[in-house]
Amino acid sequence: MDLREEIIKLKEKLDVTVVAHFYQKDEVFELADIVGDSLELARRASQTDSEYIVFCGVGFMGQSVKIIAPEKRVLMPKVACCSMARMIDVAYFDENLAKLNSYGIKNEDILPITYINSSAEVKARVGQMGGLVCTSSNAFKIIEQGLKSGKKIFFVPDRCLGQNFAIKMGLKSCVLGDGTNPNDADIICYDGFCAVHQLFTPEDIDFYRAKYPDIIVAVHPECDIKVVAKADFIGSTSQLIQYIKSLPEDQKVVVGTEYNMVNRLREKNTYILSSTKPECPTMNETSLQDLYDTLKSIEDGKPTNEVFVSEDVVHWAKIALQRMFEIS
Ligand code: 13P
Ligand code: SF4
Repeated sequence: MDLREEIIKLKEKLDVTVVAHFYQKDEVFELADIVGDSLELARRASQTDSEYIVFCGVGFMGQSVKIIAPEKRVLMPKVACCSMARMIDVAYFDENLAKLNSYGIKNEDILPITYINSSAEVKARVGQMGGLVCTSSNAFKIIEQGLKSGKKIFFVPDRCLGQNFAIKMGLKSCVLGDGTNPNDADIICYDGFCAVHQLFTPEDIDFYRAKYPDIIVAVHPECDIKVVAKADFIGSTSQLIQYIKSLPEDQKVVVGTEYNMVNRLREKNTYILSSTKPECPTMNETSLQDLYDTLKSIEDGKPTNEVFVSEDVVHWAKIALQRMFEIS
């Protein structure tokens, strides 16, 4: 059986849209109807007419579609979870709020902003507190807007994203627990991170600059602040793709983000900013067989791996996501 052919046939037959993030394996990515960064996928997948969304990505991405469009049936060929999103749950969130309270910072003086790489429950908690969601492509705008509230921003879960945008905006930031008094910071970051983007180091950049003095360094904002400080371009996955594809063919570029995406960017003059292969293990779990099995389960009337989010969580998480969509 040619799995690829079978998947194409099933897609034609069923009321389904297949969605894939840029970090998916090539064979899965090529069969998607919609591809994009986290923001584009959440927006576009929820706006389709299809009854079923088959989401090739990680858990928070499928959940975001379900939250925005609860009437849709969202299935994930692999129930894979972003390890950064798992670094925070509601209990940790509340524990960290209590720490802030112990410094004399009251809840009513805190505006929480959660990176979209977080669970539906964390988004709901943030929504309940008047906060909102951001992604790597709109974080600047969202933080800028958030600051107008006059409150301190509590940024979860990615400390790197919070710190990188604070630096870009000329603001003071701290990571809760790093010894700094959070009263001295405009943006207080939770201590979460992406293990994949931590693989890139300033020394990797020095290596490439020494080897190719005219090379351009482009990285994702989940990279460490020391890496971002040395880079020429910082952007979400979509912004990186757009930028790199606009470069002259002979312009060398080295990229600090996930391997699958970088590997399909350009034929020549594109390098990966690491001596080890920076693959996101959970993004890589979804196989062609998983995609086929999920589509077949719809055809058989027994859909598998469906995403469910409880009504009260949907209510508040949707408010947090809608506040983001209103701004970006
Ligand atoms: P993007 O929103 O830039 O696609 O990022 C998602 C992600 O998980 C990067 O590691
Ligand atoms: Fe999560 Fe990092 Fe994988 Fe992105 S690359 S999905 S942040 S673990």
